[in-house]
Amino acid sequence: MNLKGRDFLTLKDYTPEEILYLIDLAAELKDKKKKGIPTDVLRGKNVVLIFEKTSTRTRCSFEVAAYDLGMGVTYLDPAGSQIGKKESIADTARVLSRMYDGIEYRGYGQTIVEELANFSDVPVWNGLTNEYHPTQMLADMLTIKEQLGRIKGVKLTYMGDARYNMGNSLMVTCAKLGMHFVACAPKRYFPDEELIRQCEEYAKESGATLTFTEDVEEGTKGADVIYTDVWVSMGEPDNVWVERIKDLTPYRVTMDVMKNAGEDAIFLHCLPSYHDHKTTIGREIGVKFGLKEMEVTDEVFESSYSRVFDEAENRMHTIKAVMAATLGAFSE
Ligand code: CP
Ligand code: NVA
Repeated sequence: MNLKGRDFLTLKDYTPEEILYLIDLAAELKDKKKKGIPTDVLRGKNVVLIFEKTSTRTRCSFEVAAYDLGMGVTYLDPAGSQIGKKESIADTARVLSRMYDGIEYRGYGQTIVEELANFSDVPVWNGLTNEYHPTQMLADMLTIKEQLGRIKGVKLTYMGDARYNMGNSLMVTCAKLGMHFVACAPKRYFPDEELIRQCEEYAKESGATLTFTEDVEEGTKGADVIYTDVWVSMGEPDNVWVERIKDLTPYRVTMDVMKNAGEDAIFLHCLPSYHDHKTTIGREIGVKFGLKEMEVTDEVFESSYSRVFDEAENRMHTIKAVMAATLGAFSE
């Protein structure tokens, strides 16, 4: 397997074998890290991390992973560069690829990260766009493999806004890897028709199934993984909270949902999550709309079903695998 020089923009661009290879490489790198075996094979290389939206997990994962691989890192915060304001994406890509060996980008439209990749001579990694969050997918799949012992055949139910980055990416990943994907949400939150059609093609090859249902009982029945995400994503206007709360409250992950799922079901969430009033937004929205919690109850979040912190840790190991593979380390 040789992924040297490849961009990592969406898993639509990767074959099932390549995705599974990256998950296995991440598991190997995780094992090495736990045993204290150094992996600083990319000494002398440097990467730049562009964040036009904020981050905790993705930024820290790229930084720690880069340091573990021996690389230097520059972080450009949402206000800290000329990008888009004084300098086009095309010019930025040509400047940065003269200085760095890889570029991470988190921002708005997928077309921006695609343009960056088109004009860059070095690998570009998507750290989240409105449409896709591919590095999160590898962490989720590694977590599923560790927790359930398998990926193929797993039934994963996504509850909430399935038209955005997490719903789209999970559907693509499940379709590629032969899983049973269920979007459980009101109809207008189902993924885009064209993307569904594309995923149905992947599913024909992999044996995956794709189901779209408004019925919580049916959608979560026997699921191996219950997954949710915030109801309002970064970059969306505050005035959508009212409709989201009205539309998605019936799709909150509760203990009843978890009990209706499979016997060994686990709960995953990309995080951050509004499961209590311990955040500014969680408290503000909670007080305003009389809600104690949003997409998931605090009870489920803190329960033994929840594997969200294993999942968060796996962001670092999987991002390390993506950088290592696309920069040509450990290729087989
Ligand atoms: N899950 C995730 O991408 O988290 P951050 O926004 O903290 O990077
Ligand atoms: N849908 C969320 C994911 C955060 C990791 C967002 O885009 O804000």
